Amino acid sequence: MTMEKLSIGIILGSTRPGRVSPQVGNWVKEVADQRGDAHYEVVDLVDFKLPFVGEEGDQEQIHAWSAKLASLDGFVFIVQEYNHSITGVLKNALDSARGEWNNKAAGIVSYGSTGGARAAEHLRGILGELHIADVRDHPTFSIFTDFENFNTFKPAKLHLEVVQSMLDQTVAWSGALKTVR
Ligand SMILES: Cc1cc2nc3c(=O)[nH]c(=O)nc-3n(C[C@H](O)[C@H](O)[C@H](O)COP(=O)(O)O)c2cc1C
Repeated sequence: MTMEKLSIGIILGSTRPGRVSPQVGNWVKEVADQRGDAHYEVVDLVDFKLPFVGEEGDQEQIHAWSAKLASLDGFVFIVQEYNHSITGVLKNALDSARGEWNNKAAGIVSYGSTGGARAAEHLRGILGELHIADVRDHPTFSIFTDFENFNTFKPAKLHLEVVQSMLDQTVAWSGALKTVR
């Protein structure tokens, strides 16, 4: 029996001009693609001009966002720390859908002065409310040692093992949760 590959979205949590998140997300995708165990795609919030929840705005963008999430079985969140939490744009994107998030799995990759750990822990609380099962293993990149001049991503080799175990768990749990949707 051939099983269709799972689709995992690597969601870039920041949208500011000059952001480093695409470098991190693309590097995670390169590592993930070499595994051959799922279809991985980078999902860039810049491509979805989501209005703030409750405000009037382009409904097409909300539909496009919902459709993108519906097409995915699991997620890897690329999380950057802003004032000890996640970005406003990521929180709004999380708030802008509901059922499309439910009963799926997620891994977290974070960065910042303390590896983005505080933002990642905030995100875990939000994911619980959305019925997203967040996996334990969590690569944390230091803005001081994994980036050159704070803007060129040069990850230390030691992170690779944690990236792989985070992906192992995200793929396993995404497959398991597919059976309950
Ligand atoms: C408004 C603001 C608040 C920030 N707060 C934190 C923080 O609390 N902790 C931290 O480690 N880095 C903090 N940073 C640094 C960002 O994590 C860093 O600039 C990172 O590169 C942002 O990711 P991005 O380039 O992908 O947007 C902050 C940056 C800005 C602009």
